[in-house]
Amino acid sequence: MVKEKGPNLKVNLGTIELDNPVITCSGTFSSGLEYGKFYDISKLGAVTTKSFSLKPKKGNEPPRTCEVACGLLNSIGLQNDGINSFKKDHLPYIKKLNIRVILSIFGQDIAEFRKIAKEIVDIRQDIIALELNLSCPNVEKGGMAFCTSTDDIKNITHEVKQITKIPVIVKLSPNVGDLSMPAISAREGGADAISLINTVIGAAFDIDSFKPKLGNIQGGLSGPAVKPIAIANVYNLYKENILPIIGMGGIYSWEDAVEFMIAGAKAIGLGSVNFVNYMAGIEILENIKKYLTSKNITDINSIIGRASDKIKR
Ligand SMILES: Cc1cc2nc3c(=O)[nH]c(=O)nc-3n(C[C@H](O)[C@H](O)[C@H](O)COP(=O)(O)O)c2cc1C
Repeated sequence: MVKEKGPNLKVNLGTIELDNPVITCSGTFSSGLEYGKFYDISKLGAVTTKSFSLKPKKGNEPPRTCEVACGLLNSIGLQNDGINSFKKDHLPYIKKLNIRVILSIFGQDIAEFRKIAKEIVDIRQDIIALELNLSCPNVEKGGMAFCTSTDDIKNITHEVKQITKIPVIVKLSPNVGDLSMPAISAREGGADAISLINTVIGAAFDIDSFKPKLGNIQGGLSGPAVKPIAIANVYNLYKENILPIIGMGGIYSWEDAVEFMIAGAKAIGLGSVNFVNYMAGIEILENIKKYLTSKNITDINSIIGRASDKIKR
């Protein structure tokens, strides 16, 4: 008996080819080791690592996470072991897990991005793309986030791509307002795709102690609370046809994932949901397949951007 073929799930983000659109968000899946104990994470489209800097970074004072209505506040402060530890300690098991890896990086100035990029040249065959986390403060500009400067976005993207020759995804922050200009700058710098959204600035206070609930006072909000913000941004940028989009922010179910794709996301990122349901990745992927089959949709690409059907591309 001939086995029935399922719907096509392959998607392309510029030059980045994925077997399916389900990927994990930076900072919520480590580099996959822990989740790989529960299911075959090589079935995911890709795994995005925690953001790595040049040197190890200690992160912020605790408490660093706090639950709020419909979401999570975090102020981890980009704690990580540094890019050399990624190469030495993480890559060996990543290869064994047989996953497709998007390496997330950040620096405090353009010079640091350049140095990290140079460290990556000799491992470029092991990663499918780099994601630039530009939400971190630029020390050269008095702590203003890189994503607030379109020149920085363009220059960093250009430099990293020139040095590494790896596809580059620029991750955008919703905290700057309209994302069109940052997205255009990413394209001008040579980015292959954009991912959005990073967390939304937030804070919470204890009414008994009068103290902030996070050691850093402010943090980043994620989870279902941010989903409509993320969807609006995906929808607007899709209509402008700037770059392929990885949509993320509050995706907790396969229905959420489909909604992001209809709004215009070519791939979807799962973040905080991994803390609530460690099987989310595989469950959402399987359920997207069932949804497509039930609607007789043979190619997932046909649902991307359906919310703005009148626009031809
Ligand atoms: C605990 C935590 C740590 C995160 N760390 C990073 C990080 O290192 N780099 C990054 O680009 N985004 C980081 N993010 C943001 C997520 O990748 C994602 O953009 C955001 O949480 C929105 O998705 P979600 O609502 O599905 O969690 C982090 C988010 C959380 C909750």
